[in-house]
Amino acid sequence: MKVIAVFNIKGGVGKTSTSVNLAFLAAKHGYRTLVWDLDPQAASSYYFRIKAKIKGGSKDLIAGKHELDELIKGTDFVNLDLLPADFSFRNLDLVLDARKKPTQRLQKLLKPLADDYDFVFLDCPPSISLLSEAVFEASDILLSPVIPTTLSVRTLAQLSKFIKDNGSIKARLLPFFSMVDRRKKMHLDIIKSLPEHYPDLLQSSIPYASDIERMGTERMPLGAFIKNSRSVQAYHALWNEIMQRFNNTPL
Ligand SMILES: Nc1ncnc2c1ncn2[C@@H]1O[C@H](COP(=O)(O)OP(=O)(O)OP(=O)(O)O)[C@@H](O)[C@H]1O
Ligand SMILES: [Mg+2]
Repeated sequence: MKVIAVFNIKGGVGKTSTSVNLAFLAAKHGYRTLVWDLDPQAASSYYFRIKAKIKGGSKDLIAGKHELDELIKGTDFVNLDLLPADFSFRNLDLVLDARKKPTQRLQKLLKPLADDYDFVFLDCPPSISLLSEAVFEASDILLSPVIPTTLSVRTLAQLSKFIKDNGSIKARLLPFFSMVDRRKKMHLDIIKSLPEHYPDLLQSSIPYASDIERMGTERMPLGAFIKNSRSVQAYHALWNEIMQRFNNTPL
């Protein structure tokens, strides 16, 4: 089981869209896939049309009072399951803080699922917090969507430094450009200059595209309502590149 956290300190950069669309592709290619919606905004749960209330909320979840598989829901798609968000996830930091070894907690909760899934996507809330540290320790890859703007690049530098300075994080940071608008000079300049500073930056990028926005009204992954488009191809390329990083054969 490989754990891919879709993470950025910044909000509104495409984390949820990435989690949902890549998970859809993974499942479509036959991998047993789970999306864990860790954000109290519950956006990925919304995209999969799943509303759930977790009994005992974040407190019982983190305490391990339920097996995670009791909380997992099937989606409308084969091989694709969801662990939905609950509004109490707004307190996840506090709940984690009250426990011993809080940063190892998510990893421990996920362990029993190791034989059930090939890929777990963690759709993370924006911020850098105790929950983020627990996410970093539980993950193999930190996939980070970055809008090519100065402030986003600055945030990426903060994240990269945080990971470097923290010896216990084994996850590999893989940034990629998100919401790219090639008519904007700033986007083009940053796309050109950033790879030199981040050798792990993925080559695939996701364009700014209205069909991705439509996921909000269609309430499903992009590939479920559009067969082929520039954005569909971009997510395919991104997924293939990630698979190559896992040393697997490209799909
Ligand atoms: N490539 C894109 N092109 C156009 N719109 C996009 C793109 N990616 C995401 N969006 C839209 O931008 C908004 C934010 O995207 P998304 O929810 O994926 O970001 P997020 O990083 O998960 O946000 P948050 O930090 O609030 O969780 C949504 O309305 C989404 O439809
Ligand atoms: Mg989100």
